[in-house]
Amino acid sequence: MVEEISVDPKFRQGGTALKLISKIFSVAIKKYNVVKIEGTTYEDENGAPFKIYKKLGFKKVEDLFLIEGDASKFKSWIN
Ligand SMILES: CC(C)(COP(=O)(O)OP(=O)(O)OC[C@H]1O[C@@H](n2cnc3c(N)ncnc32)[C@H](O)[C@@H]1OP(=O)(O)O)[C@@H](O)C(=O)NCCC(=O)NCCS
Repeated sequence: MVEEISVDPKFRQGGTALKLISKIFSVAIKKYNVVKIEGTTYEDENGAPFKIYKKLGFKKVEDLFLIEGDASKFKSWIN
């Protein structure tokens, strides 16, 4: 599992993230026979970083979404 990809600001916009992600996926496919890759990302006003994944053929899955909850509201469910 990859938690997050980050490129040193000095080296951004030079294709590093695309190369890194491609390498990770190629190892996953060749070594572990991975057939499907899922993840979460976001896009800013310039379309990044989702833009990178789109280049690799990824698309949005509209029926999945992030959720969050306020822990104080769970109290009645905790013994
Ligand atoms: C997102 C991040 C990893 C991209 O790294 P990078 O090495 O600059 O990315 P690449 O150079 O491989 O970019 C691939 C494509 O995305 C585009 N791109 C990357 N960052 C972009 C930005 N901030 N705005 C617009 N386009 C961007 C590149 O221009 C390139 O497209 P192109 O070939 O059409 O020019 C880097 O900006 C980063 O570390 N950000 C902070 C951490 C983060 O957000 N991680 C992603 C969590 S999912």
